[in-house]
Amino acid sequence: MTARPAVDRTVPGLRERVRAWRADGRTVGLVPTMGALHDGHMALVRTAQGHCDHVVASIFVNPAQFGPREDFESYPRREARDLVMLGEAGVDVAFMPDVAEMYPEGFATTVAVSGLTECLCGRDRPVHFQGVATVVTKLLLQCLPDAAFFGEKDFQQLQVIRRLARDLDIPVAIRGVATVREADDVALSSRNAYLTPAQRARAPAMIAALRHVAARIDEGMAAAEAAEQGRRMLDGAGFDRIDYLEVREEDGLALVEAQPGPGRPARVFAAALLGDTRLIDNWPVG
Ligand code: PAF
Repeated sequence: MTARPAVDRTVPGLRERVRAWRADGRTVGLVPTMGALHDGHMALVRTAQGHCDHVVASIFVNPAQFGPREDFESYPRREARDLVMLGEAGVDVAFMPDVAEMYPEGFATTVAVSGLTECLCGRDRPVHFQGVATVVTKLLLQCLPDAAFFGEKDFQQLQVIRRLARDLDIPVAIRGVATVREADDVALSSRNAYLTPAQRARAPAMIAALRHVAARIDEGMAAAEAAEQGRRMLDGAGFDRIDYLEVREEDGLALVEAQPGPGRPARVFAAALLGDTRLIDNWPVG
């Protein structure tokens, strides 16, 4: 039988376990997830295992980061399968609080990171990053690991989390992990499961557009002009709506319209819909 991770559903239970590890001088890594695990999450787990003696993976579909018309109710939930995957990977503990444990009656506090959250995914999803920042702050403080691991696919989210950990003096190293891609380079996402075969066949156009834009900028084209070409590529490939395709600096996410400044790394960011499914991805320039 495959080993299953221990499951903690309460904050005191998790704290007690982490306290015992730390008392033994062991290091702890946290991999926050919303479940429906795929190879992208398992890459976070492997990276955490490479850095830390013990790994906690949290599974919590966080209602606070979904807008009123978004897919909270229908978001895929696969607890039994997730536990098998975590067990096979050798994760020590799955932290699986319910909504009442995370947001008890009377919960009234919100973590809001200004500046980084108004652009890109924050423009059309005003509550999203407050929900992410609030739940991640809670998870970091509940577990108090040495390091926490987040995918670069949600690059804006990663930068928001780095900023909140710094601003709130949370003593946890925030580590980004490279995006895991399918054979045709589509970024892995739990939401890919929503795509019809016809939509899935159009999905690789997103990474193709991002790479095209990065290559044109490397050749000297102005970022705004290259981004316009990228948007036309997505449109021509049959994406139903383009929320954004923009070039921004990695640190601070300022818009780049000409060329990225020296020593100021930039990325091409895109979000677009195939049917009702919103895909996001990003690719470095240079
Ligand atoms: O990236 C995610 O899966 C979520 O936004 C996170 C970081 C687990 C917070 O709910």
